[in-house]
Amino acid sequence: MNVINSSTKLYAVIGHPIKHSLSPHIHNFSFKYAGVNAVYLCFDINPDRLGDAINGFKAIGLSGFNVTIPYKESIIKYLDEVDVNAGLIGAVNTVINKDGHFKGYNTDGIGFINTLKNHHIEINEVIVLGAGGASRAICTALILNGAKRINIINRTYENAVKLASHIQSIDSKCKVNADTLENISKYEAELLVNTTSVGMWPHVDNSPVDDIPKGVKVVYDIVYNPYETKLIKMAKEKGCQIVYGIEMLIGQAVESFKIWTGVDIPEDVIITYLKKEGI
Ligand code: ATR
Repeated sequence: MNVINSSTKLYAVIGHPIKHSLSPHIHNFSFKYAGVNAVYLCFDINPDRLGDAINGFKAIGLSGFNVTIPYKESIIKYLDEVDVNAGLIGAVNTVINKDGHFKGYNTDGIGFINTLKNHHIEINEVIVLGAGGASRAICTALILNGAKRINIINRTYENAVKLASHIQSIDSKCKVNADTLENISKYEAELLVNTTSVGMWPHVDNSPVDDIPKGVKVVYDIVYNPYETKLIKMAKEKGCQIVYGIEMLIGQAVESFKIWTGVDIPEDVIITYLKKEGI
């Protein structure tokens, strides 16, 4: 265990609810691994106290924090500066305190792209299920990293259209489609990404799609609880390559850690630690 003393820095994650977050495990391990004198705690903030919480963080000189559901968008108005990429996504998941100046970043997109790179997966034509905050970060990262076609397929058509028009405005060369889940069979791509919460514990028997769409060779489900979702099980049966949600969680955490400390922790070191601890 790290020795806590008068020089120990404090980092945190804020959300509502926050009880099941894995981030304290990842970051406290990372601080220890990197020899950084810091601790990381969870704060469950009520929606009507978000501003108070941020003022409190400033007053006590909190070194940095992560932001999770439901505050990734609403946090922005309390920050002094927002990084260009986070501005494009319209959401912040990482804040650093530089001499009392709070700057927000979004590491979800880069974390996602890094995991694709780790698996040598090409970014070309993609089907993205969902059109919420996670999808926004992922679609922005995909278009900035050279995707040629992005098919955004969502339960609610209007949300898919809204996201598609935003993504299209970033780069007109990429073909961006919006549609509903009932029409999924019209679409073909090598990479399928699930950004919806469908299949998440306790609804483990649910899948956002009944079948793996045509041409899909790689399935990436960002749901990490359970480790292996129903969608992933279906994809395995079809012989698809798999990327697990835990990889994106760790990918974004590693990027946050880099922003805070400058230290790049290898992702496999964190995976080994979580497995050893049975987390
Ligand atoms: P996040 O920030 O995790 O992306 P979100 O912004 O609430 O969360 O987005 C959740 C996404 O999952 C949305 O695309 C949502 O579809 P709608 O736009 O129709 O709301 C999708 N989603 C959530 N529950 C779903 C369900 N039971 N079936 C299909 N899609 C679902």
